[in-house]
Amino acid sequence: MNPEFLEKLRAIVGPSHVLISEEERLQYGRDWTRTPGISGAVALPKSTQEVSAVLKLCSDFKIPVIPSGGRTGLAGAITATDRDLALNLSRLNRIDPVDTLGRTVRVQAGVTTQALHEHCEKEGLTWPIDLAAKGTSEIGGNLSTNAGGVRVIRYGMARRWVSAIQAVLVSGEVIELNQGLEKNNTGYDLLQLLIGSEGTLAVITEATLKLCPPPIHSRVFLFSIRDYESLNYVYEKVRSAPFTLTSFEFFSDKCLKQVESKLGRKCKLEKRGALLALIDVEVGPYSQEKDKMDQWLSDLLDSGRIEDGLAADSSSDQTEAWGLREGITESLQVSGLVRKYDLCVPVKLCADFLKEAEALYSKIQIQSELFVFGHYGDGSPHLNFLNSKGLSPEEFHSEINRFEKALYPLLKTFHGSVSAEHGVGVLKKNWVVYSRTPAELSLYQAIKRAFDPNGLLNPGKIIDFSISS
Ligand code: MLT
Ligand code: ZN
Repeated sequence: MNPEFLEKLRAIVGPSHVLISEEERLQYGRDWTRTPGISGAVALPKSTQEVSAVLKLCSDFKIPVIPSGGRTGLAGAITATDRDLALNLSRLNRIDPVDTLGRTVRVQAGVTTQALHEHCEKEGLTWPIDLAAKGTSEIGGNLSTNAGGVRVIRYGMARRWVSAIQAVLVSGEVIELNQGLEKNNTGYDLLQLLIGSEGTLAVITEATLKLCPPPIHSRVFLFSIRDYESLNYVYEKVRSAPFTLTSFEFFSDKCLKQVESKLGRKCKLEKRGALLALIDVEVGPYSQEKDKMDQWLSDLLDSGRIEDGLAADSSSDQTEAWGLREGITESLQVSGLVRKYDLCVPVKLCADFLKEAEALYSKIQIQSELFVFGHYGDGSPHLNFLNSKGLSPEEFHSEINRFEKALYPLLKTFHGSVSAEHGVGVLKKNWVVYSRTPAELSLYQAIKRAFDPNGLLNPGKIIDFSISS
């Protein structure tokens, strides 16, 4: 990288916060998908003022900037090239005291999701976005990708839980959006525009997050289920049940076996079907509500649709049951190269879609193992392919590409989206046309030009933007 640029960068963030070794440039140039990337240098600013000065410097030198946080993304949205500066915000990790009256908290972008949860828990409140990667993922990334997670049925996606954002434009100008107001009906909502924009419009440095009380009592059910018809049956029963649903997750028995063998966790269910459903519900304080739930449960167990089931009431039993679902990503990650699809289809068509996608997998016969899991209750299944045959990365990707070419047209017939929650990054940008119309994409171009006329912010992500210079 230009030595004069590096010298000025060191003057802004301090010499020890500019990293240039190959190992560090690799480490900060890619996310959990291991999509190949290496940045030209890494800058670790400590404040919004430093971020602002770095962006101004990059604009002056026309150096592309790749903003990042915990780097747990799953779409290649922080994949860098050696011409780029990786701008990592993990050192911006201040959390202000909770505003218990307004039920909000102001945080910097580098605070981890888990640190935020622990901070708010002391005040009896929570930011209800819950992700398997919460120990490492950071708020800036959660907002830039509009994170979803395992409680979307109950609480929605990250964008619902934000009342202010501070961001830095590519010019270095700092903007404050919405000032924490509950209501602000004054035209375009730029705060919402930045959420999910994957660092292509501005760099989020701080946010005011909305909080709510966590459920006082919850109950977790883990059911072993024969097939997709029965899974759908169970979901219908849960939907009409007399309690509040927080999560309805599913995973194949194959995923469970992977978690058991790779992470050493154990499932207590004795009789196993092809699928599992993990259901988290909020339980009211009154005994008649508990009686109704017990009746509901016994009717369901008598329906013949459940192979085996357990109800977890204590927090340790609930953590154990959730550990089976939340361990899937890690169990695959430690087993080799993985290709991930995070699709969304209308909820009522989810079972049909999964059956057809699995039939396609059998028909096309690619050399890779398929693991199916995800957020059934949102119509948001994950298809993961593992390179269990030890193919070279090139062979593996060309196998998966064969499947992908058939998968997305199938998804289109279900009016689905190519990304439910992980975002587009570099991995799905060729397929965005399946989810967005030409009119939408031409507005994307205009929006990008308005924020970043020289195309310096996270280039090559979401779509290929045509820039003015
Ligand atoms: C999950 O649902 O566990 C996350 O989206 C991560 C993943 O898909 O691997
Ligand atoms: Zn997910």
